[in-house]
Amino acid sequence: MCGITAYVGPRLCLPIVLDELKRLEYRGYDSAGVAAIEDGRVRVIKSVGKIKNLESLVDEANVQSTIGISHTRWATHGRPSTVNAHPHPDCKEEIAVVHNGIIENYMALKEWLISEGHRFRSETDTEVLAHLFEHFMKGNLEEAIREGLKKVHGSYAVAVVSSHFPEGIIVARKDSPLVVGVGEGEFYAASDIPALLPYTREVYLLEDGDMAVLTHDGVRLGRVNGSKVERSIYHVDWDLSAAEKGGYDHFMIKEIHEQPRTIRDTMRGRVTDDSKLNLSEIGLSAEQLNRFNRFYIVACGTAYHAGMVGKYFMEKHLRVPVEAALGSEFRYRDPIIDDKTLVIVVSQSGETADTLAALRDSKQKGATTLAVVNVVGSTIAREADHVLYTWAGPEICVASTKAYVTQLIALYLLGMHLATIKRTLSEPQIAEMVNAMRELPEKVEQHIAGQEEHIIEIARELCRHPAFFYLGRGMDWVTGMEGALKLKEIAYIYAEAFAAGELKHGPLALITGEVAVACVLTQSDLSDKMISNIKEVKAREGLILMVCREGDQNAASVADYMITIPSVTDAFMPVLAIIPLQLLAYYAAKELGCEIDQPRNLAKSVTVE
Ligand code: M6R
Repeated sequence: MCGITAYVGPRLCLPIVLDELKRLEYRGYDSAGVAAIEDGRVRVIKSVGKIKNLESLVDEANVQSTIGISHTRWATHGRPSTVNAHPHPDCKEEIAVVHNGIIENYMALKEWLISEGHRFRSETDTEVLAHLFEHFMKGNLEEAIREGLKKVHGSYAVAVVSSHFPEGIIVARKDSPLVVGVGEGEFYAASDIPALLPYTREVYLLEDGDMAVLTHDGVRLGRVNGSKVERSIYHVDWDLSAAEKGGYDHFMIKEIHEQPRTIRDTMRGRVTDDSKLNLSEIGLSAEQLNRFNRFYIVACGTAYHAGMVGKYFMEKHLRVPVEAALGSEFRYRDPIIDDKTLVIVVSQSGETADTLAALRDSKQKGATTLAVVNVVGSTIAREADHVLYTWAGPEICVASTKAYVTQLIALYLLGMHLATIKRTLSEPQIAEMVNAMRELPEKVEQHIAGQEEHIIEIARELCRHPAFFYLGRGMDWVTGMEGALKLKEIAYIYAEAFAAGELKHGPLALITGEVAVACVLTQSDLSDKMISNIKEVKAREGLILMVCREGDQNAASVADYMITIPSVTDAFMPVLAIIPLQLLAYYAAKELGCEIDQPRNLAKSVTVE
């Protein structure tokens, strides 16, 4: 859950590793640090808080070095503090290590190293790495790192500098992301590609068990176990401007506005002009797909909500059991999996530890796996048997918006593809759906253009309510869950979604005039039942914010505030209905002065369990 960077080249390293690090701040931001080789010795500078705090210390220190590493931290073992910040040195301060991941057996290793005379300073798991490498240092740092990593259970992306090896940096990975960049006579490493884009577009995507030695002369790749390996260079062809704010106040609002384009991108090449589908890219034949009699969609957070919509859609149209499951629960409950099971994992980052673990577990139990994923070359994308990319582009704001909507589109496409093969939907039915789907980008545009100012006003008026409930039935309930998650994570307002029919089984007791109740009403067959539930809320003085289709007079008759969305077939309404809830959360957070792109206690990529 942390970010690491490294640089070796002719230029001063610290401005470069810090610049790279800023693009990784979304991975964690409670403390940061750098280490560099200066006059053959290791210099370490670290500070608690955001990278800008570290920057002023680095400026003062005026380190003259061309070989350096950096780290931004999201605390797991040990509270945020300067001493717990990375890089972590060994006893003699001759080795410094930055690490992303978790060393699961660190307690046992720490006890052993202490008994061998090592002195620990921090509460972190990472510090054992520095002492392990020190322990095995017999003149060759690379060998010491190999020996040390052999002792480690858990996940790591590490970068190491040392006075024992003043010529460069050694990096290695297992179960945590790491890329190595190749420039003109300069070499880089980072937790992900956007950090490197201002410097190079040529990268090695390291695999688990890979190690790389970066010196002024180049990059030498190998395996932690000592064997040789060759990897080809991946040329990054997407633009850095896609990862910058582009004139908006925050990445979140930029990403909300990008959604019409990203929906088009997700559909591109997959729906044809004559309203057919083409999903041959997933590499599953009709024969293979027809064998599956059970489907799981496994994911976390927002991606799980997309999975729930996918479940409703697929189950309805495929007539086979489809279960949406949380990654963090799935592998601990012994799910029924065999070789007739397709496990679809959904993830923006492709690095979420729980989703990845569910994927690995499912493969081991004999399932076929398909990843619906955004980040190309991510671990989930590489480990799944089959991949369907969502093409949302880099999503920087911790709160997921455009990734969610593209996950919905990808799951709809997949569902329609399966229904075509299983012949549970006819060609004209598919064509009708494809046509409806193609209208979505324009309808999202139309909605944002027509309602954004109105939503700003509503957000201003309602944002000081202490609690928000979100009510809906069927897919509208799922939209409510996603809307509530957005409000919680960026505006820090207590928000909860309820299946509207469940209200009178308990939650109704909580309704007072203090509670704002956002009602999502787009599913036509459930409209009358939903209106009855809303009336029950109104009778208890709950304040109703209605999100409904344009022209819905019944909904209007029970609303205190109303946001309307364009109409499309029921199945695709979640794509339109989530947009005002994203905007509501954004403008409420803005009104309340919240930080928005990097909410407290959260990180973009949850790479630990
Ligand atoms: O990268 P992933 O899609 O696997 O991430 C899963 C969740 O951590 C993520 O969706 C999280 O819930 C978002 N911050 C919510 O906005």
